[in-house]
Amino acid sequence: MPDGAQPVLDVRGLKTVFRTRGGLIHAVNDVSFSLRPGELLGVVGESGSGKSVTMMSLLGLLPSPPAQNAGGQVMFEGKDLLKVSASELRAVRGGRIGFIFQDPMTSLNPVFTVGYQIMEPLRKHMGLDKERARKRAAELLDLVGIPDAARRLKDYPHQFSGGMRQRVMIAIALACDPKVLIADEPTTALDVTIQAQILELVRDLRQKLGMAIVWITHDLGVIAGIADRVMVMYGGQVVEMAPVKELFARPRHPYTQALLQTIPSLHGPRGDRLRTIDGQPPILRKAPSACPFMSRCRHAVPMCGLENPARRTLTPGHDVACHRAEELAIVREVAHG
Ligand SMILES: Nc1ncnc2c1ncn2[C@@H]1O[C@H](COP(=O)(O)OP(=O)(O)O)[C@@H](O)[C@H]1O
Ligand SMILES: [Mg+2]
Repeated sequence: MPDGAQPVLDVRGLKTVFRTRGGLIHAVNDVSFSLRPGELLGVVGESGSGKSVTMMSLLGLLPSPPAQNAGGQVMFEGKDLLKVSASELRAVRGGRIGFIFQDPMTSLNPVFTVGYQIMEPLRKHMGLDKERARKRAAELLDLVGIPDAARRLKDYPHQFSGGMRQRVMIAIALACDPKVLIADEPTTALDVTIQAQILELVRDLRQKLGMAIVWITHDLGVIAGIADRVMVMYGGQVVEMAPVKELFARPRHPYTQALLQTIPSLHGPRGDRLRTIDGQPPILRKAPSACPFMSRCRHAVPMCGLENPARRTLTPGHDVACHRAEELAIVREVAHG
């Protein structure tokens, strides 16, 4: 898609804090990204890096208190979602922006039939009557590859397997023809074969429906096969952003490089020990005045402790927030010939 295309979602300088007994937690620090029409943006980073809070924050899904927006704007269809009324935001959510939560068991309500749960948003957001909603619900189940769709509307969530429940979640998220789909680790709980099927399905649906997708995962390996661009988060910040091929070929942030080392499929035959990154993610008690990755970075120099590196563009479309990015890139190029 053309670089100049008007973004469907444009997030600028998003900041979110939690007011806790122990003080402020700076969970999201100045996060910016835009989503182009039809693109799939992968968001990766270890657990606790701020992926979920970023997305929930822009959809107004975090309970406040303790969460509080501390700045930024989220432009969608000409409006700043951080400024619209609660009812307007509810209409966008589950309507023009679809959302899939992490755990299918907790997000499908066990006491209602699957049909009811798909028909609900259709009646609420699209104003369909019961019969039309039922017809559309069956079409949606069929679209996400659930056999015998019309009959299965009467079933309850527990009558579906994990993979099939996840498909139902996708059907609900797609119900109102969203322009944007935000999927937060939707396949983590599933076995590898089913994960692959769901990814295939999403790729296929994107083609058919032309929506833009934000796909959150802690697994860079998952992203490799499906994303157009990747945003890498660490310590509540975007540390790197690049087209997927570029990111895998020329990772510039030491954190991204370390993440790449942890993907078993990219490093030799099965049975190879999965590497993890030494050290712990930061606890975000204060707004970072140093690089948040410093304590775990093998390239850290004193400068890294003095100033949180600003995100900047290294080559067109490739952003990184590391003081030493250029210097390390040269070293890497020499080493790799
Ligand atoms: N309700 C909460 N109260 C305080 N801190 C929270 C709350 N929810 C999330 N956080 C903090 O926000 C940070 C980012 O969390 P999250 O976005 O869930 O990470 P990820 O999705 O990348 O695993 C973490 O440091 C987490 O401890
Ligand atoms: Mg999360």
